[in-house]
Amino acid sequence: MDFRHQNMNKLYHLIKTSEIPLKVIEEIFEKAEWFERELQRGRRDFNNLKGATVCSLFYEESTRTRFSFEKAIHNLGGNVISTEAAAQFSSAHKGESLEHTIKIISGKALSHLRYADIIILRHPEKGAAEKAAKVSGVPIINAGDGSGEHPTQALLDAYAFKRFLGRLSHFSICFVGDLKFSRVIGSDAILLSQYPGIKMFFVAPKGFEIKEELKSYLRQKGVEFKETDDIKKVVCQSDIAYIVRVQKNRISDRNLLQTYQQNKDNYAVTKEVYEMSEKKGTLFCHPMPVDEKEKEIRPEVENLPRIKMFEQAGYGVPIRMAVLELIWRNLTDKK
Ligand code: NCD
Repeated sequence: MDFRHQNMNKLYHLIKTSEIPLKVIEEIFEKAEWFERELQRGRRDFNNLKGATVCSLFYEESTRTRFSFEKAIHNLGGNVISTEAAAQFSSAHKGESLEHTIKIISGKALSHLRYADIIILRHPEKGAAEKAAKVSGVPIINAGDGSGEHPTQALLDAYAFKRFLGRLSHFSICFVGDLKFSRVIGSDAILLSQYPGIKMFFVAPKGFEIKEELKSYLRQKGVEFKETDDIKKVVCQSDIAYIVRVQKNRISDRNLLQTYQQNKDNYAVTKEVYEMSEKKGTLFCHPMPVDEKEKEIRPEVENLPRIKMFEQAGYGVPIRMAVLELIWRNLTDKK
């Protein structure tokens, strides 16, 4: 098999959301919709990944991302090799570099003896997926690199918004919580900036605001956005409210964490926030996990009809099926 390198129009590595052409995003949505319909009809005999081995290489904890990727691979008739705690259970624990691990799994030296045809990588370090892609003999899918990016989460979120609202343009969204250390916020905003008429509000406490580089990206794309510090100020103008947890795993400064915790009601979906957005019909999304201690989605509202996070997570399966199918098709396409 001839493994080609990245070509602008053909998805090979999936590292950054900004690198996915709109045409490819649309193709992924279309295919995901088709997979979803077929799954709903009870179909289980897809063979789009027949003969492919996918390595799910997770150096950082995950529930939804890893399981939905692995379920997607099983659904498509592919094989999975996996480690869910690569930092402890792979040779990384013996001091091996990420580059060496990737070279081995991807068969850089002996391509015909590679262990896997596609690698799904989650890593606590920003830039890890890019680093891996530089030395890999097979496509790398970034399943989250520290506070960097999470492109397949952005794809599944946008797909969910489209399903919930019936369109992916001309709506307003507020992103709420720890916007600085969350990798999802940046990826989602970048993906949505490709579509017209999407107004964004960013709601975060001091020290947790969106990064300057994201602001200048959005300005350059002509996106209308505003920043504020209380969800109550913008929820009634938002079709979607997208909440994220405070990323404690990336915050070492205890004082900073305290500033968040002191005002956490300003970034949570409380009964008051839910009720005040009744008229607008705001839908509440969250990439999950919800922090059981901080309760950014309060237990008293989590089962109400406009809390959409459980449905949202389900879309991970068809979206990841579509991504894997496309990458594998690009690899094996003879044309
Ligand atoms: C997110 C992640 O890992 O970035 N979760 C996910 O993939 N569904 C969000 C988070 O950890 O807060």
